[in-house]
Amino acid sequence: MKSMTQLITDKKAGLAHTEEEVQWLVENYTNDHIPDYQMSAWLMAVCWQGMTFDETKALTLAMMRSGTCLQLHSVGRPLIDKHSTGGVADTTTLVLAPLLAAAGAGVAKMSGRGLGFTGGTIDKLESIPGFSATLQEEQFLALLQKQGLALTAQSASIAPADGKMYALRDVTATVDSLPLIAASVMSKKLAAGAEHILLDVKVGQGAFMQTKEAAVELARYMVAIGLGAGRNVKAVLTSMEQPLGLAVGNALEVAEAIEILRGRGPLRLRQVCLRLAAEALCLAGMAKTQDEADLQLAALLDSGKALECFRQWILSQGGADIIATPTLLPRAALEEELLSPYSGYVQQIQARIIGEASVALGAGRRYKGETLDLAAGLVLACEQGDFVQKGQKLATLHAASAEKMAAAKKMLVAAFVLSETPPLSYPDVLGWVDADGFHAEAE
Ligand code: URA
Ligand code: CA
Repeated sequence: MKSMTQLITDKKAGLAHTEEEVQWLVENYTNDHIPDYQMSAWLMAVCWQGMTFDETKALTLAMMRSGTCLQLHSVGRPLIDKHSTGGVADTTTLVLAPLLAAAGAGVAKMSGRGLGFTGGTIDKLESIPGFSATLQEEQFLALLQKQGLALTAQSASIAPADGKMYALRDVTATVDSLPLIAASVMSKKLAAGAEHILLDVKVGQGAFMQTKEAAVELARYMVAIGLGAGRNVKAVLTSMEQPLGLAVGNALEVAEAIEILRGRGPLRLRQVCLRLAAEALCLAGMAKTQDEADLQLAALLDSGKALECFRQWILSQGGADIIATPTLLPRAALEEELLSPYSGYVQQIQARIIGEASVALGAGRRYKGETLDLAAGLVLACEQGDFVQKGQKLATLHAASAEKMAAAKKMLVAAFVLSETPPLSYPDVLGWVDADGFHAEAE
């Protein structure tokens, strides 16, 4: 077998690895025989040179095989997994997991932590006092059986290669690579065992895929890998040109998810959540049409069933009852308002800057293993298209210190683009990819 140095050299030169080489690399990184510094160099080479579809598939399967693969056939509910490729104020998973479970699906989900300027479901859930996101395989299966819903972080047992690579990529600027994202997402999805996999591929400046073309290509890779592994997969492309919800930051996003489950909350986030949930029900054969799914979902929100499902789920993983007592969620020591320096229409809210500012406030990591301030972040007070007056509030910032507050405020000046005329609106859903390829959303 070639040395790691040789594999880095090959990839740097744009050569393709063999399946055996990829398998060797993943295996040896997982069991600590390849150090982080060599892996970082290889990841950076992949970012520049890319990987072929066959290499990406080999990487996915090697990462999947780095731990156990769950066998979930005995649950008696259609098993759905939903995964977002990552965005800003993308609170969809926290809403969809209980909503789909309330609809009768089994939601067996393995989630990640925040990556770069994007938030991660595990970090968000850990802002709930007591919540445990590391379930052993038996606990995971027991909860799934009991309530149709269990969520865990990558662990030493399930797709551990992804857990290690993910943490390293987060802090080495090697996240935004198509093959690395495809393998990371699909290795987890395949190992976690769900039959139906709905992928939410984010597109735009607040996502890792900035153009529709790149997002379609990522979606095609992931769908092909999933179908090849015998799963039922669909990818929906959704816009991340501006933050999806209003809250950015871990505890703040949990609170916003609860609002959506109460049938309230920001409109765009609610609409995208409902669309994805309807897609999932149709994918799993639990609804015949989107309209039928919409009716089911509306009833689950109106009746409070979805919210109750969320509450039971949080309690079952050790979390406090934040539905009964919302003040149990952590709150930052400082809160400050960001005011508009002039009047105008909100032409754009730059999702990436918003995400980066939330990291500066303490909500995301700057180095591997950094402890987050789970209370930190910001809540937008306007959306694209709104008219704001000079001195009107654009957002409320939450942080532990005045330094962090000042650093974030400096960054945020550029995030709100105001203009004299209202902006053109753009669609939240761009289309989808299934076995037949890309389908554009009807206008
Ligand atoms: N989500 C993942 O699970 N992995 C990535 O690499 C990016 C987003
Ligand atoms: Ca089709």
